[in-house]
Amino acid sequence: MTLIFGHRGSAGNYPENTMCSFIAASTAGADGIELDVQMTKDGELVVIHDETVDRTTNGTGYVKDLTYEEISQLDASFKFTQFKDSASVPMLNEVLEWAKQQDQLLINIELKNGIIDYPGIEEKTIELVRNNHLVKQVIISSFNHYSLVKCKEISPEIETAVLYMEGLFKPWAYAANIGAKGLHPYYHAVKKEIILQSQNYGVAVRPFTVNEPALMEKLIKENCTAFFTDFPELAVKVKTENTPL
Ligand code: G3P
Ligand code: CA
Repeated sequence: MTLIFGHRGSAGNYPENTMCSFIAASTAGADGIELDVQMTKDGELVVIHDETVDRTTNGTGYVKDLTYEEISQLDASFKFTQFKDSASVPMLNEVLEWAKQQDQLLINIELKNGIIDYPGIEEKTIELVRNNHLVKQVIISSFNHYSLVKCKEISPEIETAVLYMEGLFKPWAYAANIGAKGLHPYYHAVKKEIILQSQNYGVAVRPFTVNEPALMEKLIKENCTAFFTDFPELAVKVKTENTPL
């Protein structure tokens, strides 16, 4: 059965990558959440998509140039005025501490180290996952595949997944080559044959970001492993309508 991951929580209706967004995804019945991790000047892991705080908060500057104390003061409500001053940039540990209290909620941690190299991001992430006893519920993904190999070396027990945008040739073989058990393609890069072949090789396929009901329905009917959506509540409804009683 196709699983539903709330992309940046429930980013279609809540400020992305904030606690209220993650809580909304879980409340909507999502099987998992997806979040993005960057590192502050003082080495703290924070949950924010961009390399700068400019788009999603009322601050400016690169995450790498700001301390956690400075980032924690920012309003992360973005364009959702109803959440003004009530949404902040969470630390990764804060999200994990909450997530472990949810019933078997899956957590996809995307390491945002494709543009800026954050030394130690892999070790720090894995330490938090282990400390929170979430090894079986976490999938680490990245567009930086060197980082995925490093994660696998540090923690063979945590699943890794390959993020990619376009026509990767035999992606299931590529995944196997770097020890990844999952493929996270841009949805345009997914075809039924890729889903089938990958699953035959024991590799999960979870496309992003699927917001159209027709595509959700298609992926559910093709028995795709999972997909990421900004609208988990809608996706749960579509899944229910397409699940035989
Ligand atoms: O992990 C899927 C998706 O989140 C990757 O792209 O830019 O939304 O982080 P992006
Ligand atoms: Ca992401």
